[in-house]
Amino acid sequence: MQGSLRRSIFALAMAFAVAGALGQTTTAPDDPAGGKPAAGAPPGFVVPADPKPGDTEAERTKSQPGNNAPIWRATRDSGNHPGVTTLPNNEGATLIQRFVQYPGSAYTTAGEAWRQTRNQWIVPYGGSLLLIVVVAIALYYVGRGSLGRSTNAGASAIERFTALERAAHWVNAAAFVVLALSGIVIAWGKFFLLPVLGASLFGWLTIALKTVHNFIGPLFVVSLVIVFITFIKDNFPQAGDGAWLKKAGGMFGGPEVPSHRFNAGEKVVFWLGVFVLGALVAVSGLVLDQLIPAVANVRGNMQIAHMVHATAAVLMMCLFLGHIYLGTIGMKGAYRAMRAGYVDEDWAHEHHALWAEDIRAGKIPAKRSSSPPPAGLHTAKEGA
Ligand code: HEM
Repeated sequence: MQGSLRRSIFALAMAFAVAGALGQTTTAPDDPAGGKPAAGAPPGFVVPADPKPGDTEAERTKSQPGNNAPIWRATRDSGNHPGVTTLPNNEGATLIQRFVQYPGSAYTTAGEAWRQTRNQWIVPYGGSLLLIVVVAIALYYVGRGSLGRSTNAGASAIERFTALERAAHWVNAAAFVVLALSGIVIAWGKFFLLPVLGASLFGWLTIALKTVHNFIGPLFVVSLVIVFITFIKDNFPQAGDGAWLKKAGGMFGGPEVPSHRFNAGEKVVFWLGVFVLGALVAVSGLVLDQLIPAVANVRGNMQIAHMVHATAAVLMMCLFLGHIYLGTIGMKGAYRAMRAGYVDEDWAHEHHALWAEDIRAGKIPAKRSSSPPPAGLHTAKEGA
C-alpha cells in the first residue's frame, strides 16, 4: 500500500480518536442538580440524589450502591437497629457493642471503652501503685528494720493459732500468691518478661499461667470463705482499737500500743482485705470463670467483671504486701506465730498486751487445741 495513502488513513484514525477523547472531556454533562440525564444516559434515567447520612441500607443501595455505611452504622449500634447475623453464640446478634462510657474511657463502643479503661488506667496506674507500695515497704524496712524486741523463741508458750487455723491460712496464702504472680504476668508481663523471653515463650508462659489462674481461682474463693469464718470472731472492734489506730500502733514511732488478739491494723486488713476486696475479687473472678450461671457469658458482663476484678486485685495485693511484709521480715517472731502456732509470753505481751493479760487472768485459754507445742516450748500454765 502506497506510503502516502497509509499515512492519510493513519492520520484519519488519529483524528477520530482525538475527536472522540475531546468529546468526552469538553462536553460537560448537564448539571446533575438539574437532574437532566447526561448525554447518552438511557431515557428516563433519574440522577439519584446524594446519599443522606441517615439513609437506610435499602435507600443507600439506590443512592450510592456499594456504600454500606448504613449497615455498618447499624452493626455498630446493633443494639438499636434491626439486622440479621448467623453467628452461633448467645451474643450473635451483637457484632459491635453499643456505646458506653466506662471509668476513664471515652463514650464509645463498649469493647473500645473497656480497652481504654484497662490500658489507660488499670494497667499503668495499678502497676505504678504496686511499685510504689513495694518501694515504700523497702524504704520502711531500711528505715525501721524488723519491728519489736522479742524474737518469740522464749521458753513458755501460748497457742496463738491452732493447726486448723494455720492450715486454712496457708492454703489461702499459697493460692493468693499463685494468683497474684500469674495475674501480674497476665497484666504486666509484656513490659518486663516479653522483652526477655521473646514472643513465643512468653505466649506459652502466659497461656499456662492464665490456665493455672483460672483453676486456682475457685480454690482461693473457698479458702477465703474459710479464713473469713475462722478468724471473724476476734476481728470485731474492741476497746483500745481506736487508740491503736490513732498512733498506727506505734509503727511510725513511739511504743507499741496495747491490743487484743488482733490489733486494729490486722482488723482493717481483715475487713477491707479479706472481706470487701476479697469478695469483689472472688465474685468477679467467678464471673470471669463463667461459674455463676445467673450471669450471662456476654462481653458486657465480662468487661465489667474484669474491670472490678483487676482493680480490686491490685488494691488487695497492695494491702497484703504489707501483711506479708509484717508476717515475714517486718516483725520479729511474727512468722513463727503462724508457722508453729505458738508464741512466748514476752512476744505476746510486747505485741498483744491486752490479749496476754486476758490469758494470764484466765479469761482466754493459753492452749486452745490438743496439738502439742513445737519441741522445746511448753504452755504458760504447764511452765508456771
Ligand atoms: C505469703 C503470704 C502470707 C504470709 C507470709 C502471711 C503471714 C501471716 C502471719 C505471720 C500471721 C500472724 C499474725 C499475728 O500473729 O497476728 C497472719 C495472720 C493472718 N493472715 Fe496472713 N499471711 C499471708 C497471706 C495471707 C492472705 C493472702 C490472707 C487473706 C487473703 C491472709 C489472711 C490472714 C488472716 C485473716 C490472719 C489472722 C489475723 C487476723 O485475722 O487479723 N494472709 N498471716
